[in-house]
Amino acid sequence: MSKTRARITSLGRYVPPRVVTNAELEKLVNTNDEWIRTRTGIRQRHYAEPGTPTSEIALHACRDALAKRGLGADEIDLIIVATVTPDMTFPATACLLQEKLGASKAWGFDVSAACSGFLYALTTGAQFIENGVHKKVLVVGADVMTSILDFQDRATCVLFGDGGGAVLLEPGNDGTGVLDFSHEVDGTGAQFLYMEAGGSRRPASHETIDKRLHYVHQEGGQVFKFAVRKMAEVSLKVLEKNGLTGADVDLFVAHQANIRIIDAAQQRLGLPDDKVIKNIDRYGNTTAGTIPLALGTALDEGRLKAGDTLVLASVGAGFTVGGVLLKWSGVNWG
Ligand SMILES: CC(C)(COP(=O)(O)OP(=O)(O)OC[C@H]1O[C@@H](n2cnc3c(N)ncnc32)[C@H](O)[C@@H]1OP(=O)(O)O)[C@@H](O)C(=O)NCCC(=O)NCCS
Repeated sequence: MSKTRARITSLGRYVPPRVVTNAELEKLVNTNDEWIRTRTGIRQRHYAEPGTPTSEIALHACRDALAKRGLGADEIDLIIVATVTPDMTFPATACLLQEKLGASKAWGFDVSAACSGFLYALTTGAQFIENGVHKKVLVVGADVMTSILDFQDRATCVLFGDGGGAVLLEPGNDGTGVLDFSHEVDGTGAQFLYMEAGGSRRPASHETIDKRLHYVHQEGGQVFKFAVRKMAEVSLKVLEKNGLTGADVDLFVAHQANIRIIDAAQQRLGLPDDKVIKNIDRYGNTTAGTIPLALGTALDEGRLKAGDTLVLASVGAGFTVGGVLLKWSGVNWG
């Protein structure tokens, strides 16, 4: 019998109902649909109502995942939430979610790794399954990016949307599940993508608010260059570690930050269009939410079946880089 692995046995997702098109953003900032589409691939994104906490997005996604598996929340052992927009600095959003969900037996914590958050949380959760400590782990990636977007910064605000997803991890010995990962951080990249104030270094003050320091700050060109290089590198690395190449990949599921970043990685991996998931046109960049949302799109489109070999890849603030090799286990998808 093969080794115990963390299998994804259910997937849930949620995006708030309000759709914001590029044309609507034209009314808010000096931008246009053509620029946004050609530079990023985004046509629309979903926005939560102001004041919606991330735990609410996460709650919908988790309920969806549990319902699809026919499980009660009280059967969950551990909840890991990846987010850069926690409800509050503390306590962790995982604690607030545990209460809302009624996951009475679960413990939990948050992971802060920006756009790589979901993959870091996934591989962290997988450890608890592989070592036999837990049987049911919920891994959530969710963000309410609109809570930290500067609508005076046209180069950044047009990129992001709100939403998230959740997967359930359970043990199995059929050879499917999380096979391997390859993560990296490069802290020299912290200067290019960050939120300056609200932490211990720069606590909130009238001055930080006046200077608009509670919003995402990004040097897009620097992030772009790093992401184009690393998205491909990390994908090839996790494949090579396992004696595989791009030709062995059934589906490439990358963090959805910019269509040009995904296209570049696709090219380097030598993958045809039918092996790459792209849904950035609908959702924009939902930070920790993109990869579970992309898995949902793959299932909607009937492009994901049990036994498929997947590479999941991300690059995010930090810089953080995530690469996961996964054999799909199959989920109930109504
Ligand atoms: C942000 C990003 C789309 C910008 O694309 P780009 O091709 O690098 O564009 P530039 O920043 O060079 O800007 C080109 C021009 O468009 C303008 N521009 C920027 N945002 C604009 C907008 N929303 N609408 C219209 N024009 C815009 C710029 O002001 C600049 O004008 P200038 O040449 O007169 O100065 C791109 O850099 C990117 O996607 N970066 C990575 C972002 C990312 O993935 N972040 C998350 C990390 S996980």
